[in-house]
Formats: sequence, structure tokens, C-alpha cells
Amino acid sequence: MGYKTIEYQAFSHQILAWYRENPRDLPWRGTLDPYKIWLSEIILQQTRVAQGLPYYYAFVETYPTVKNLALAPEEEVLRLWQGLGYYSRARNLHACAKSIWHDMDGEFPKTYNDLLKLKGVGSYTASAIASFAYNEAKAVVDGNVFRVLARYFGIETDIASSKAKKEFEALANQLIPVDNPGEFNQAMMDFGARLCTPKKPDCSTCPLKDSCFALRNNMVSDLPVKINKVKIKERNFHYYVIKCGDRWVWKKRTSGDIWEGLHDFPQVESSNNLSPVMNIPSTSEEEMVRFPKKYRHILSHQRLNAVFSEVEIKEENSEELENWCENEGFMLVAEDKIEYLAKPKLIVNFLNDQGI
Ligand code: ADE
Repeated sequence: MGYKTIEYQAFSHQILAWYRENPRDLPWRGTLDPYKIWLSEIILQQTRVAQGLPYYYAFVETYPTVKNLALAPEEEVLRLWQGLGYYSRARNLHACAKSIWHDMDGEFPKTYNDLLKLKGVGSYTASAIASFAYNEAKAVVDGNVFRVLARYFGIETDIASSKAKKEFEALANQLIPVDNPGEFNQAMMDFGARLCTPKKPDCSTCPLKDSCFALRNNMVSDLPVKINKVKIKERNFHYYVIKCGDRWVWKKRTSGDIWEGLHDFPQVESSNNLSPVMNIPSTSEEEMVRFPKKYRHILSHQRLNAVFSEVEIKEENSEELENWCENEGFMLVAEDKIEYLAKPKLIVNFLNDQGI
């Protein structure tokens, strides 16, 4: 591993030299604590640094050690994660902390192979932790690294294909210097995120411009090759926002769909955007607000058309409502407790517009 050819050696040298001139001061870079590095890497999966930073600070402050996280209630962890999306990351994070605390004497795994066994930890995250905390020469390969390598070395493999990951990992593992793997990985991440960007990369200041394949062959905008196979699903959610006095009807989402464990409202899904009727107890025509509020919400693989219809139930019918909630598995939550529920961003947006 490491420095197999003069070209590879020159590449790694330039990337490191650039990084030392252009370091980003990020809080997880000053630590060797695998717990904090792991936290930062899980937060930064599918998330930009600027968006992830406040979450990193909040998690480190609320749960300074893996023990604190392991012993926290899941509701609280999900609530702290609120707004970051991809909630399975938060559930895996919590499950993983519990297993480290209960099954591994609170000791973080110390090698790439053992880190890979953790829930939610794939080759990227295992490489990041192994190289940053333990100096193991394992190269990280994410979108940034795909782009830098595809452009510089002129690799036309479709990065969405299954063989791409192996091919790029093998190359990156040749490039990584054994005496400095963590710094090299950070450098590659930053080089891709700040200079060799997807759009308008700063080729004029690039230290590798004289030897970059893509630049020489006018292929910077053609590389990397990504053939998009992901199908986007359109869904129509009809929400019923049911209030009785100062209490609201809420539903905790179950497994097998998006937002597992988060809270939203009683809902009907349909194949069109016409609101189906829900049989809510003790409602007359007048109790349904006539103009539902419509939102469009974009997720990575789904587009949601959400319609919120508000329903006021008279206090005198509260008992009937309570029985209905019990039968349906819904819960009544006082308005001043709503902030403590973990909720999807769509629901937070709706509540914000309601002044909640
Ligand atoms: N993205 C993922 N991991 C990162 C890290 N350690 N530093 C900066 N950006 C990242």
C-alpha cells in the first residue's frame, strides 16, 4: 500500500501540500477520540459541513462520551437529530453506542475491520475513523474522492455502478501515504469539497493542473461519469391536524416507511392529490377547515405532496376523541409539549407556519 509509482507519490505530495496551505479548522480535527470522530462522520454522511456543525456541537455537548449516548432515551436522540434527515443514521448511532457500551466494555473498536462490524458504519466511515484515530492507512472514498480521482486520472467508470467503489478504493489505497493516512484523507475530502468542486472547479489555482487528465482533455465537466438510476417516487400525503382544546392528535410512525420513530399526524395516502375523507369522530362539515394547506417536500428518493387539513373537535366530545385515539394508536399531546416530539422537517415547517 502507498506510493507505488512516482506519479502516485507526486499526486499525494501535492494534495498534502495544498491541504497544509488551506486547512479548514473543523472541531473534530483536533481530536483523536474515536467516539467524537465517529459522531462527526455519521453526522456528515449525506450532509454538508456547514449544516452538520451545529449538530456535532449539540451531540458532543449533550453526550460527551459513548456512555452518555448509550444511556440516553431514543426519543431524545431523535429529537436532537431533528432536521438532519436520513433518520436511520440516528437510530443506528444510538444502537451502536448501546452495543459499544454494553457488549464491548465501552471501548471503541480499534481497527478498520472491527469498525466495519458496527451498525451504520460502512467502508467510508470505518476508513475515516481508522485513519484519523488510529493512523491506519485506509483511504476514504466518497463523492469528493470519486470526483478528484476520476478527473485527475481520467477514469470513466460509472461511479453509480457496483464495480466503481472497488476500483476507486483500490486506487486511493495505493495513493495514501502510510506515514500520514489521516491527513491525506482529510486533504482529499477538502480538495474535493473546496477546489475540485462539482460545478466550476477552481482549475486555474489547482496545484495539479499541469498533469490533470480531465483539464488537459477538456473533460472536467464530463467526469466523473454518473448514470442516474435512482427512481424518484411521487407520493400524496393527506394529513389531518386534529385539535381539541389545547391538545393535538399525533401519530408515531412505525417501521417499514420513511421517518420511522418520528411523529406526525393521522394521515391517508392516495394516488392523486384529492383529499380522501377520514372518519374522525364528532366532526361536522363546519369543523373541517375548508382550505387545506399544501406543501411540497423533497427527499432523496421521494417527492411528497402534503396536504394539511385542520379539524377542531369541541371539548364536549373529548371523550369520544380519546377513545378513537386509543383504538387507532394515536396520542393526544398538549400544545406546550409538542416541541419535545421528534418530528420530520415537513411537520416542523408546517408548525412554524402555524406559529408553533
Ligand atoms: N465529510 C465527511 N467527513 C468529513 C470530515 N472529516 N471533514 C470534512 N468533511 C467531511
